[in-house]
Amino acid sequence: MPRQERAPDRSNALISTLNATLKRREAKAARRRLTILPKTAVDFSSNDFLSLGTSSAYRDRFLSHVNNAPKSFPFASGGSRLLDGNSEYAEDLERFVADFHDAPSALLFNSGYDANVGVLSSIPQPGDVILHDELIHASAHEGMRLSRAGRRTAFAHSSPESLKQALQAEIEQDHKVVAGNRNVFIVIESIYSMDGDVAPIKEFVKVVDELLPSGNGYFMVDEAHATGVFGPRGAGVVQGLGVQDRMFIRVHTFGKALASHGAVVLCDPSVKDYLINYARTLIYTTALGFPFLASIRTSYELLSSGQTESSQRIVQENIQRLRMCLNDLKVHPTVMFEVDHFPNSPILSLRTAFPRELAAACQKHGYVVRAIMAPTVPEGRERVRVCLHAGNTPEEIDGLVRTIQSWLDSVGRRDTKL
Ligand SMILES: Cc1ncc(COP(=O)(O)O)c(C=O)c1O
Repeated sequence: MPRQERAPDRSNALISTLNATLKRREAKAARRRLTILPKTAVDFSSNDFLSLGTSSAYRDRFLSHVNNAPKSFPFASGGSRLLDGNSEYAEDLERFVADFHDAPSALLFNSGYDANVGVLSSIPQPGDVILHDELIHASAHEGMRLSRAGRRTAFAHSSPESLKQALQAEIEQDHKVVAGNRNVFIVIESIYSMDGDVAPIKEFVKVVDELLPSGNGYFMVDEAHATGVFGPRGAGVVQGLGVQDRMFIRVHTFGKALASHGAVVLCDPSVKDYLINYARTLIYTTALGFPFLASIRTSYELLSSGQTESSQRIVQENIQRLRMCLNDLKVHPTVMFEVDHFPNSPILSLRTAFPRELAAACQKHGYVVRAIMAPTVPEGRERVRVCLHAGNTPEEIDGLVRTIQSWLDSVGRRDTKL
């Protein structure tokens, strides 16, 4: 066939479409890219809040678990948890984690994403109702999208009043809700990743107890950002409040303060059994292999033996220091700059009209912070997100604040000239 008569190369046509889509994203200044940070950069960005990822206590204990494993012990996962990927080690770890969290049982997942998708796609039954905080994580949205629930409604972020209104609307629409014949799931996080704010869990429980006296309101709480940092020995906000018996499902992830990977669903043993049968993100994937199980075990041993308490204390000291320094910043009256911070939370937001500029100024001075733009946060709520760690020194915190001050001064001067 002459060259010009060849059928169009579909794969090149596809690549052109993909590139055009990326260009449109670029034009909106929303294109995402992978970056590698210089080794010398100071971390004010990662979720390794306790700095366990670089701690020698963590490293030594992890290596000793690995080195002391019997020679016959397979490092390979072997397959799905339902086939060859299960082990006594995994089951023992689940019991250990369940005990630490004062939960009846625990089920490991390969990630928090998988845990949320697995739970939300399988547990709500046809016709059930899901009420969720408007700011819950993308993985919960994905799980709800796949779920058989009849209705799902967002309520205003962390607002018990808004949850009440949403629940009242369901009750008015469908008599089965108040009669207890329709399950209602309330999906929340305990600490929100972008503002670091703590959910009013007890107030939510009060609303649900009042409006659903038949007991058909089921809480699903994602503790991803609380794990290791909040609650007794880092067990989470729920245990800090003592409301673990009111939570139907708790999800803890290991990829943030626990310096590992994977997640656990804490629930009743019947729910665990159901998930083993119906959660596709558990069934159709290779289970975590021994090295990851050993690293999860390492973090939980450090938490439960109290060996992370000094890191948890240092994080709090760092939070107080940064808050104080940020309060002393001098901001030109024309410059929009606000610090959003929830007490004791290692996540802070610096809100400005120019988050990318501020992040770039900090990065230029060796401080890693990230600009968080819409649609990750709602439009108008763009910010620079700052995360504190046990490993941040007072000098690093002071240096970051000095850099923010010089950036504010330069924006102030610019505004004055305009
Ligand atoms: C609230 C929340 N839930 C779930 C996840 C997903 O967890 P993982 O990173 O383990 O998939 C994240 C992390 O990005 C998160 O912030």
